[in-house]
Amino acid sequence: MRIINCHTYEAMSRKAADILAAQIQLKPNCVLGLATGTTPIGSYQGLIKRYESGSLDFSEVRTYNLDEYRGLTHEDPQSYHYFMNDQLFNHVNIDPANVHVPDGANADADAACADYDRMVAEAGYCDLQLLGIGRNGHIGFNEPADEFSKGTHCVDLTESTIEANSRLFEKEEDVPRQAYTMGTQTIMNARCILVVANGENKAQAVRDMCFGPIVPACPASILQLHPNVFVVCDDAALSLCEGLY
Ligand code: GLP
Repeated sequence: MRIINCHTYEAMSRKAADILAAQIQLKPNCVLGLATGTTPIGSYQGLIKRYESGSLDFSEVRTYNLDEYRGLTHEDPQSYHYFMNDQLFNHVNIDPANVHVPDGANADADAACADYDRMVAEAGYCDLQLLGIGRNGHIGFNEPADEFSKGTHCVDLTESTIEANSRLFEKEEDVPRQAYTMGTQTIMNARCILVVANGENKAQAVRDMCFGPIVPACPASILQLHPNVFVVCDDAALSLCEGLY
């Protein structure tokens, strides 16, 4: 794992946007795995700036998002699909046909997940997968569990995730209790992985991800087995890793 301390959220976001932009420059029709959450918002703003200045072209880029709440349509302002449109896709020249997010509106979980797995596999998996990390070490919506997950599947969100994500909803009761998420194996199939994390509330998860035992109780710890991972953080997120890297 290459750990990069960028000190601030702004510098972390610039570095992440640089890495994403470099991938698009190297392979204009690359497959990007994208993430939601508040952490990558600055990285997406960096990509939009580069597009607006004419240095980045999304016309051939294909994207696959990690996850979606079960039961929300893509028009629902709380859905991850809506978030991605709002934070990135509506502001760059990506072809909507090249954008993929699990279909939260499909109540048939097995079909929705199998369809998504087939699509990601047909695309040849991700050239670069962007990840945030949950306070409990989750990636996508792969929550701490007794075993690592494989393909896309339906998950019951943990209380801690529901509570953490409730800040984006009016009331905690409004947070959906289930989600469809890419599995850990699908994430690991990406050729390169970029994790972004900032803030003190991610410090333990970052330490467990990079230096803890590789156990499904911390889903992100499996990234230690991937040959090509960048962990890009601010000072606070790396505060429990001092002297370890
Ligand atoms: C959600 C998403 C994750 C994300 C996590 C952290 O649970 N499913 O992909 O990494 O939140 O979010 P934030 O960046 O807002 O802390």
